[in-house]
Amino acid sequence: MQFDTPAATTVPKILLFGKGGQVGWELQRSLAPLGDLIAVDFDSKDLCGDFTNPAGLAETVRRVKPNIIVNAAAHTAVDKAESEPDLARTINALAPEVLAKEAHKLNAWMVHYSTDYVFDGSGDKAWLETDTAAPLNVYGQTKWEGEQAVANNCAKHLIFRTSWVYAARGNNFAKTMLRLAKERDSLSVINDQIGAPTGAELLADVTALALRQIQQSNGGDLTGLYHLVAGGHTSWHGFASFVIEHALKAGVSIQVQSNAIKKIATSEYTTPAKRPLNSRLNTDKVQTAFNITLPTWQVGVERMLTEIL
Ligand SMILES: NC(=O)c1ccc[n+]([C@@H]2O[C@H](COP(=O)([O-])OP(=O)(O)OC[C@H]3O[C@@H](n4cnc5c(N)ncnc54)[C@H](OP(=O)(O)O)[C@@H]3O)[C@@H](O)[C@H]2O)c1
Repeated sequence: MQFDTPAATTVPKILLFGKGGQVGWELQRSLAPLGDLIAVDFDSKDLCGDFTNPAGLAETVRRVKPNIIVNAAAHTAVDKAESEPDLARTINALAPEVLAKEAHKLNAWMVHYSTDYVFDGSGDKAWLETDTAAPLNVYGQTKWEGEQAVANNCAKHLIFRTSWVYAARGNNFAKTMLRLAKERDSLSVINDQIGAPTGAELLADVTALALRQIQQSNGGDLTGLYHLVAGGHTSWHGFASFVIEHALKAGVSIQVQSNAIKKIATSEYTTPAKRPLNSRLNTDKVQTAFNITLPTWQVGVERMLTEIL
């Protein structure tokens, strides 16, 4: 057993924050077999899980004394973050910093998630972990600050940068497209932002696999930043078309016809937050370090659609 555990028990204690989010919900499932899981949310009653209350978060860690902290909470409303940068920074950077410092004091591991939006989206190559971050928006900037806060304050950390997250539970692009396809005759979807739709299930499963590997080995040399997305890539238009075609094949009553899903450029769709065009992330590092194979994005999307349709 390589996680430092309190003397009385050999079962690792895992403290999960943000249990109600897309990834948090799946982590409740995937982390459960690894140890004693304590999961909290922003409105939990007994233990503070509110990221606008950093002192409360520190108190939670001191009371639970976990061997592993997993942070799935975040301010993920990308456009809203532009008008509330202080709140986004508190949740995405300052609170994770507090957790990282508390984890370090306990010699615990900290798992944290970040985003493709730390990059400026230039070029067409898949970004490496060593490439320079240059966020275009407040969300990306605060998530980048959060990554650095975790890496600089907790020696034993796993930071997983991911993209375009969807799940059967929660709100996401795939579900929005399904709803609009039922209501409208035509849709216009961005065709020049490229990335990999990534299931919350996959993120949660890889997190558990990585922690198990750390548990079974010395673990220390696995600390670091990893890009973690499903295999392959597509545009938002490709993602929407895939979802709608699958729903049509499944017999769902869809108003929009496949040929009425129009491709538009980012420049034709104004949003408060600027978004990167190239969100491809190179995943060689995570696949090698943890000896895993990441399935293509279509595998997880089909599975999620089968569940919700
Ligand atoms: N979603 C994506 O497309 C995407 C892409 C790249 C990276 N990521 C990263 O992946 C991780 C997981 O994202 P996700 O998709 O699971 O996001 P999500 O579904 O939005 O979950 C985030 C969770 O954080 C909670 N939260 C918000 N404010 C909070 C606060 N003050 N205190 C405590 N909890 C609070 C949210 O609660 P409410 O729902 O009640 O607000 C929600 O349960 C995040 O680090 C995110 O930045 C996500």
